[in-house]
Amino acid sequence: MKINAPEMVKILEVRVETPTVRTFVLDKKIRARPGQFAMLWIPDVDEKPFSFSKLNGDLEITVREVGPFTKRLFSLGRGDLVGIRGPYGNGYRIKGEKICIVAGGVGLAPLMPLIDEILREDRELTVIHGAVTEKELLWIDKLGSKKIHLLTATDDGTYGEKGSACDILENLIRKREFDQIYTCGPEPMMKRVADISLREEIPCQLSLERYMKCGVGICGQCCIDPSGLRVCRDGPVFTARELRGTEFGRYKRDASGSRCDL
Ligand SMILES: Cc1cc2nc3c(=O)[nH]c(=O)nc-3n(C[C@H](O)[C@H](O)[C@H](O)COP(=O)(O)OP(=O)(O)OC[C@H]3O[C@@H](n4cnc5c(N)ncnc54)[C@H](O)[C@@H]3O)c2cc1C
Ligand code: FES
Repeated sequence: MKINAPEMVKILEVRVETPTVRTFVLDKKIRARPGQFAMLWIPDVDEKPFSFSKLNGDLEITVREVGPFTKRLFSLGRGDLVGIRGPYGNGYRIKGEKICIVAGGVGLAPLMPLIDEILREDRELTVIHGAVTEKELLWIDKLGSKKIHLLTATDDGTYGEKGSACDILENLIRKREFDQIYTCGPEPMMKRVADISLREEIPCQLSLERYMKCGVGICGQCCIDPSGLRVCRDGPVFTARELRGTEFGRYKRDASGSRCDL
């Protein structure tokens, strides 16, 4: 893949995962690390960052429909073209033998290539997956059939524990030992996971989302207060320690650079 100019690639397949989430299989093979991302371009619409949900074979990107860009993406089908540039960012670093992954909603997507790699390396893996309701849980059958200790939570109690993935982590951590936690999902959820990991002194890596424009560390749009770390270049994966005392869990910035709520 070219580093800074988008390459137009064909959509090979679109899979409906949940009422709000679809996976786009692209006619593209890349070498990237779990947790890295690309800028996806729809001409005359916009260019937006998305992580990879599958890296082996044809590239896959799993998307939740939230606004104008994702709505237009959802209108595309097999044979349509999208622009892509990347891979960008640092990605997750695989560490530890007893690993716990905490994923909220579509936050499970960038963790899927990491899960594949952890399983290939025969490490012990617990996955806690939470969503608002049963229909929004992702890949339960796929994860359940692998060598994973899988725990689920839904806000409305329609599947698994009633409550959040963090509640499960709080209880589990009293019974099981982990030497690395990975998380991705809504920021308030990740903040709670980061706080638990700092309190329990378990290293934690999390994938942060900030508004991105260039995606390559030039424009300064995605910088975190007060460190100035660029999410697109120095992240998107940070350790809980790196984010202690920053804007993480408190506010973010919109496209104009103004502070806004998470
Ligand atoms: C590194 C990274 C990886 C991501 N991976 C995924 C993924 O795998 N799957 C997925 O569904 N979503 C992912 N996102 C979020 C995705 O970029 C936004 O959902 C998308 O940009 C929304 O655009 P929109 O026009 O549909 O919605 P809008 O209405 O424009 O925005 C909805 C929300 O999306 C976020 N957003 C909008 N534009 C940007 C932007 N340029 N950069 C960052 N965030 C933005 C903001 O929080 C905004 O409030 C990722 C974001 C980042 C930063
Ligand atoms: S998006 Fe431009 S510096 Fe990160």
